[in-house]
Amino acid sequence: MKNTDKLSCITYLASPDTNAADVTAIAMLQQINSSYFLARRGYALGWIGLASEQQRLAVAEEKQAWHGSAAVFWPGILTEQLSRFTSELDTSYQLYLDVLDGASCADLVEAASYQPALNEKFNLVSCSYDESDLQQVERLDFEPVTQASSDEVDTEVWMKASWLSHEDDDASMRFRFSFGLDGHEDVAADPYRQTLTSQLAQILFPESKIITDNAGLAKNLQQLLEVDAIEFVERIIYFNSPDGGAQFHQDVERGHLGVIFAQMSGRTAWLALSKKQLIQEILTFLARQDAKSLLPTALGKKHQTQLFKYANDPAYINTWLDQRDNDALDMFINQTPAFTQQLVTNGYAYVLHPGDVLLLPQQGMDDCAWHSVFCLDEEPGEALSFAMKKRDVL
Ligand SMILES: [Fe+2]
Repeated sequence: MKNTDKLSCITYLASPDTNAADVTAIAMLQQINSSYFLARRGYALGWIGLASEQQRLAVAEEKQAWHGSAAVFWPGILTEQLSRFTSELDTSYQLYLDVLDGASCADLVEAASYQPALNEKFNLVSCSYDESDLQQVERLDFEPVTQASSDEVDTEVWMKASWLSHEDDDASMRFRFSFGLDGHEDVAADPYRQTLTSQLAQILFPESKIITDNAGLAKNLQQLLEVDAIEFVERIIYFNSPDGGAQFHQDVERGHLGVIFAQMSGRTAWLALSKKQLIQEILTFLARQDAKSLLPTALGKKHQTQLFKYANDPAYINTWLDQRDNDALDMFINQTPAFTQQLVTNGYAYVLHPGDVLLLPQQGMDDCAWHSVFCLDEEPGEALSFAMKKRDVL
């Protein structure tokens, strides 16, 4: 489902080369007070405007969107509770700033603010730097103080601090909690360690409780996801910084129903839609008479030819999106202002303020929400991104 019916409040105001004065004039004509520049890591995609307050869809429409693997937006659902976590958010922001300044995460988490909770439950067993991974800042391995019943059981879990890109001027960073060999582990196969990672994340970023210990939110989620209880796993704490964010991607993981993304501070803009919708939008764009002239110049002739070769082949686009070596398609969906304009106009854009939540369903590789994130502020902002899975109620 597109959000055009009730959320038509976001408009594409102007192309990225439009100067600020002209954007202001265009916005005034449309009675729009807030305009934002969408840019990420050296390429700009245009100006968008927020005409009015974003609204929630009706429950039936939300369910239709969720089951169709489209994003569901809950503006302001956490706003009231945010004030209860001011000090936790300040501590986490300071942690991010200190890591940015070159401090060691290992030293920082030994600090008083995380004690005694951390030492009561976990031992820090090692701290490492992977020089082959240019995005990784530091990895901390922990094991629980109380071991599992068998010594054979692997109980180590980790927190990794990583950059979101290789760009020097993008200070976007994430703190991710998981275990095992990154990218190769079937995390769903080890619910014990999944739970441990969640406990560790909760101790180091206690503002997580705004999602995990929130009866009102739980009720809303249970109703939408149609499950009795939800466990929040594979947790990531993001600090999206100016010019940073994330390119189009999905977060599919076996056993997970989707991801909840909650903005804690700062603002982000999103393009979010189901994979099927994205494929349809790609085909629609490439069918335009003027499509070629609207592609970014960075997309050379070879890539353009490749792109148009599959312009009538949704099955190939579906597979192509999942491939790592897909530069032509990747550059097109991420760096084409006119394609961004089309997505915004067709109702797939969201602006998240502190307290807003965006839900990203995932049923499988072909049925999942694809999303792209932009930072809208001069300062980094924090967000929580947790995978959701059905919790078995005993
Ligand atoms: Fe994501």
